[in-house]
Amino acid sequence: MPMPVAVVISGRGSNMEAIARASLAAGSPFKVVSVIADRETAGGLARAAALGIPTSVVPVKQFADRGSFDAALATELEASGAQLIALAGFMRILSAEFVQRFEGRLLNIHPSLLPKYKGLDTHARALAAGDSHHGASVHYVTAELDGGPVIMQGRLRLRSADTSDTVSARVHTLEHIIYPHVCTLIAGRRVEWRAGKVFFDGAPLATPLIEESDAAA
Ligand code: GRF
Repeated sequence: MPMPVAVVISGRGSNMEAIARASLAAGSPFKVVSVIADRETAGGLARAAALGIPTSVVPVKQFADRGSFDAALATELEASGAQLIALAGFMRILSAEFVQRFEGRLLNIHPSLLPKYKGLDTHARALAAGDSHHGASVHYVTAELDGGPVIMQGRLRLRSADTSDTVSARVHTLEHIIYPHVCTLIAGRRVEWRAGKVFFDGAPLATPLIEESDAAA
């Protein structure tokens, strides 16, 4: 039976859609069973519904504090039966309690080559630093923001003509490849979380798996 996956979003949900489309392909080892947003206005809700995926909203504005929002989100996730949870453009910081509850089952995608550029404005920061390469990272979520062990990175070479907008588009193209790929590897038990470390094909993963691309987008 395919591994049930929930995707949690705040925005347009292009990564959610890439994961969902991969899961709909014949023979996929995982299946997106739920898409949850923290706001009604998340564009990804309509994209998910169009693919026939159940959606729900845990409206962040209706909760007095982070703890009560996280508890409601956790209840929704447990109800979905998901074994793997993919945060995809989810713009909330989750409490340590939440992260601990879903330890080893919680993924995030971050638009930089972690550990570089945790936090916001990653494309502008990579360009301002004159970096030769940039990209995105899929990592397990731990209590440290953008600090959990990285599973896979999509890497591209920055071009002299690149702007934040062009880099954003190029990085998104890579994200849509690596996030479904990681879900496939986890559902196929090739990637595993063991006591805070990533294992790949039964051995500790010393450095992230890399997807190289010069995709123009
Ligand atoms: C992506 O760039 C992801 O790395 C970051 O938020 C963005 C979400 O984009 N965490 P989308 O909503 O999946 O299109």
